[in-house]
Amino acid sequence: MKIILLGPPGAGKGTQAVNLAQGLKLAHISTGDILRQNVSGGTDLGRQAKSYMDSGGLVPDDLVTRMLQRRISEPDAQKGFILDGYPRNINQAKALDEMLEKKNTGIDLVVYLDTSEAVIIQRLSGRLVCKACGAIFHRKNMPPKIEMLCDKCGGTLYQRTDDKEETIKTRLAVYKKEVSALIQYYKAGAKLHCLSADEEADMVLSKIVQLTEEYNDSPKV
Ligand code: AP5
Repeated sequence: MKIILLGPPGAGKGTQAVNLAQGLKLAHISTGDILRQNVSGGTDLGRQAKSYMDSGGLVPDDLVTRMLQRRISEPDAQKGFILDGYPRNINQAKALDEMLEKKNTGIDLVVYLDTSEAVIIQRLSGRLVCKACGAIFHRKNMPPKIEMLCDKCGGTLYQRTDDKEETIKTRLAVYKKEVSALIQYYKAGAKLHCLSADEEADMVLSKIVQLTEEYNDSPKV
């Protein structure tokens, strides 16, 4: 199964994708995570992407699309995947469809995590991420058992550099500019399902799981 999680920064795409990938045994592909690994590893791609990410803008489509193409060709993605952070605009959505058509496959489900602005700000301003394994926490909503240490691997938690107030504003503006066209694109293909992501994480997860079950039970053309 190939699923896209769409939604604003802080909607909970990463949080949901981790649990969903585990439950459905699918690969979790986060373009943001791959880019951050490249930045911290000092690769060419990381050097090219850094200034865009720091400012809250989008990394150029050709760089991200090539990166995604490589990632979805890896063995663990052949059984299906959950995309978190891609596509961000119509160009990327079309590039993804072309990539998958060449493999005689396509996206099965697009889940739009609708989130209010107040919730987005609260979530992003309190988010903590593990430096070692990337696990996501929140100072209040999902606090680690030991302050600033990861429950999963014991790594140190940090605040993402793009979770500063000014950068959050830019990220939201970029998101708003692109999202309507993306929603129309997936609505036209009858793949889009919207749900409120303002609720507790477990509740959101169970609604997404329900959508995947309905998809699996539906007749395929
Ligand atoms: P990326 O890392 O993709 O950032 P984003 O899309 O802005 O999304 P976030 O990671 O901020 O939020 P999320 O929805 O995953 O929320 P999370 O689960 O962490 O991209 C970063 C940058 O990389 C971009 O700005 C761009 O520069 C570049 N980039 C990436 N992809 C690109 C692409 N395709 N094209 C071009 N450039 C690209 O949750 C947030 C917080 O809320 C956490 O603390 C969590 O614990 C908490 N939380 C989550 N769900 C709940 C809940 N239900 N209740 C309470 N708290 C919750």
